[in-house]
Amino acid sequence: MTDVSYVESFSPGDGYLPARASQAGGIVRVSLDGTWKFRYGRGLGELTPGFEAPDFDDAGFDDLAVPSMWQLAGLPGTRRYGAPAYTNVVYPFPVDPPRVPGDNPGGEYRRHFELPPDWDFGGSAVLRFDGVDSCFAVFVNGAAVGHSKGSRLIREFDVTDHVRAGDNVVAVRVHQWSAGSYLEDQDMWWLSGIFRGVTILNERPDAVRDFFVHADYDPASGAGLLRVDAAGPAPGPATVSVPELGLAGAAAGAEHRIPAVEPWSDEAPRLYSALLDSGPGGEIAFRIGFRRIEVRDGQIRLNGRPVRFRGVNRHEWHPETGRSLDEATMRADVLLMKRHNVNAVRTSHYPPDSRFLGLCDEYGLLVIDECDLETHGFALVGWRGNPSGDPRWLPAYLDRIQRTVERDKNHPSVIMWSLGNESGTGANLERMAEWIRGRDTSRLIHYEGEPDAFYTDVYSRMYTGYAELDAIGRRQEPVTADGGHDAHRRALPMMLCEYGHAMGNGPGGLADYADIFDRHPRLSGGFIWEWIDHGIAQVTAGGEPYFGYGGDFGEPVHDGNFVIDGLVFPDRTPSPGLLEAKAVFAPAGIAIDPGAGTITVRNRHHTASTAAYRFGWRVEDGGDLVAEGDLEMPDVPAGGTGEAGFPAALLDAASAEPEDERWLTVTAALAADTPWAPAGHEIAFAQARLGSLAPEPELRPPPGLDIAPRSASAPRTGQITLGSAVLDAGTGELRRLGPYPVHAAALDFWRAPTDNDAPQVARAWRGAGLDRLTRKTLTVQCGDDGLCLRQRIAPAGADFGFLASLTWTADGLLFIQVAPEGTWPGPLPKIGLRLVLDAAVEEVTWFGRGPGEAYRDTYQATRVGQFTRPAASLATPYIRPQENGNRMHARRLALSGPSGDLAVTGYPHVDFTVRRWSPEQLTTARHTPDLVPDGFTYVHLDAAHQGIGSASCGPPLQPGHTLTPHPVALTLGFTAS
Ligand code: GAL
Repeated sequence: MTDVSYVESFSPGDGYLPARASQAGGIVRVSLDGTWKFRYGRGLGELTPGFEAPDFDDAGFDDLAVPSMWQLAGLPGTRRYGAPAYTNVVYPFPVDPPRVPGDNPGGEYRRHFELPPDWDFGGSAVLRFDGVDSCFAVFVNGAAVGHSKGSRLIREFDVTDHVRAGDNVVAVRVHQWSAGSYLEDQDMWWLSGIFRGVTILNERPDAVRDFFVHADYDPASGAGLLRVDAAGPAPGPATVSVPELGLAGAAAGAEHRIPAVEPWSDEAPRLYSALLDSGPGGEIAFRIGFRRIEVRDGQIRLNGRPVRFRGVNRHEWHPETGRSLDEATMRADVLLMKRHNVNAVRTSHYPPDSRFLGLCDEYGLLVIDECDLETHGFALVGWRGNPSGDPRWLPAYLDRIQRTVERDKNHPSVIMWSLGNESGTGANLERMAEWIRGRDTSRLIHYEGEPDAFYTDVYSRMYTGYAELDAIGRRQEPVTADGGHDAHRRALPMMLCEYGHAMGNGPGGLADYADIFDRHPRLSGGFIWEWIDHGIAQVTAGGEPYFGYGGDFGEPVHDGNFVIDGLVFPDRTPSPGLLEAKAVFAPAGIAIDPGAGTITVRNRHHTASTAAYRFGWRVEDGGDLVAEGDLEMPDVPAGGTGEAGFPAALLDAASAEPEDERWLTVTAALAADTPWAPAGHEIAFAQARLGSLAPEPELRPPPGLDIAPRSASAPRTGQITLGSAVLDAGTGELRRLGPYPVHAAALDFWRAPTDNDAPQVARAWRGAGLDRLTRKTLTVQCGDDGLCLRQRIAPAGADFGFLASLTWTADGLLFIQVAPEGTWPGPLPKIGLRLVLDAAVEEVTWFGRGPGEAYRDTYQATRVGQFTRPAASLATPYIRPQENGNRMHARRLALSGPSGDLAVTGYPHVDFTVRRWSPEQLTTARHTPDLVPDGFTYVHLDAAHQGIGSASCGPPLQPGHTLTPHPVALTLGFTAS
């Protein structure tokens, strides 16, 4: 019987080597990635005795790529092994630690390999696994080497005595569930396998086994203080060389003061190439970034300057390979972040593939490196038995933090160690913090789960509401659990390790958060939850690709699409939320004062001046370019503000009487190529309206009496043409608008709830009957020059509703008036007109905010201008369909298609969406293929919307962004062209 008792042991493993820096080790490194033989068993009873024997016949095994996650093998087509399962908090097995289900899928991996000719058999052989989920045992040439837990951390085994020249066989047995699973309850897919690389390393006996780079920067003098500690069983005298600093053969272990260095920061990620030489033991090449991170005067400071995080939480994700990422994907993340003004990443909730940290060093991102620890599922049982307070788990806790710190200690980008996420409170966490303090005093300690923050260096919270955040900013928050720790916590800087839940459409309200961060020096900013939607590549029977989420794989317990909450879609297409974040995160805050003729730039960098930016201006009249040019801005130092007057050409353009709306756009763009974006890449923009265009004439609906009323006994019949509208004179129904036959037209108050509307707000909307409104025509008055339809719109069972009138006039105008009647119980989704056109619309041109989607609390990335887009591109393909695609404040728009063109004018403006499906279809669809066009075009012309917010996980919508029922007047003009 195979002994697998380690699976349910509290122990972090056995037979492994002490943790060390990821960059260390090996004169020869042989990757064992590639195709391995693999056999999947559904439970412990299906293991293969003797599978580790070198001569075991594995001809019946399958082939599987290493690294990979076995539940995803075969995607996007047919899955081959088990199924992915998604839960947020709840454990998908009974809470009975350290036991796990008997139905514990396992993977048996085998691979033959030969050591290369330059292998030194006098040295040691180390087998290194960068990540195996969740527990595994290793055999080399039939010998049991050890076992391990702690999925997202390196584990190394000494296999010197087991390898030989010629053929070798490594065999690995991996278990999906283990005691370790209790510590890995992160909000993500449960997936298994050897998902990061496997390497065999050859080291000489006198090699440096590990090294620790201490590279401090003294902001007062500009000096760098370098000490490289080298460790090993018997290292020879090691030396350090940093040619660029004139350091050659300097002693390891000693401090070297370099009078002037360029510091590393996210803004200027200066790295120096270095070499650690241990003579015959070999050389290790590495990079040094001099920097100092500290808390001083209640603020987090980098190189002496206060920093503010414009951060994101990043899980590792790829829709086809799960948490197995190649370097190109990691680089894509870093580049996308840099291009969207992100300056910080929290590696939620485990250390990433260490190559990602190398990229953060190189391109410049501040990193909170989080330990692979979360026990959130214990919250659902009242935190009874939480491992964080149970001494039997202490070795596992310490093992995890040690492996995190040791692995990543040489990355300058890592500025904080995070103990883990949502693991309650308990002595084991304190012990982790204590251990870090004994090992690395050069970084800060983070953990959000301890409300008193007594062993951390920063007060961290998640999803804090605006008012409370403001109070914290003033250091006036209420006392937390233990008043004894109050003074310590209140003195700390504060950050939001999570906020702005980017689930589906949203997050809204980012600008409100930015305002509060800006107001209070104590606040160090925050990290949007989260970077990427964890959608899984799927394909319908008909071959249509889409992304799956929780519940799509037959999971008995799951959390649906809560895993789809990123700023980029699963394929890394930026969502409107990322564009909004980019605008809000802009490190250059531009303000225009057209009256004074000045442009002000506030530099939000901690260190860099604005010298890297080129400023430009552009004046457009009704969307047509009038003039443009460069703007000479003074070089604004970090934290400072600079001002420039309008240049002469701009003054001219600004003073000429506009023919239409005249807008000035000022941009800040990269002046030169950077490693992450080319010259010209836009960093920030601002707009202001110019000129003294006469106000729009106020259009009022003709008093109903202007339209000759018909007596009820003699209703008018047939159709009436009023401007571009053709209406049924008897019922008031719209039949045609210009070239477009109209299938239906109605006042509309419903939107397909967004994830951030759900569940509370959407429930209230449904409770109020907003999804099942009935419309009763009260009167239709029709004359030769107008038609007025009056309706009462209300849900069954309620005594509240709307009184509405739609008045069409011969000059092509439609006056809509809506007034709430009775007491509505809460806010509304929207107020507008739905037109269902019996024809295709192919292209839309508009003048208003664009080009992207925008709502009243998500419009920072949009600008006023003239845009033309294919109609099909106006819908945002959220993974779970929901309200999307609104274009805000259009002054005018033109719909064009095979039937012809229809121009719509909003007085003064109108929000619009154009879609090929109805809000009802959007409401019921679960996945994108459920949205089957029905041949109609749904055009929504809206007067008002409820904001978006981020209440799917976070505070309720700010009162200023809710749509309380109130009288609304909307005037529209229609012209066929
Ligand atoms: C937080 C948690 C994250 C994620 C988020 C909601 O509480 O730390 O892992 O679950 O909520 O998406």
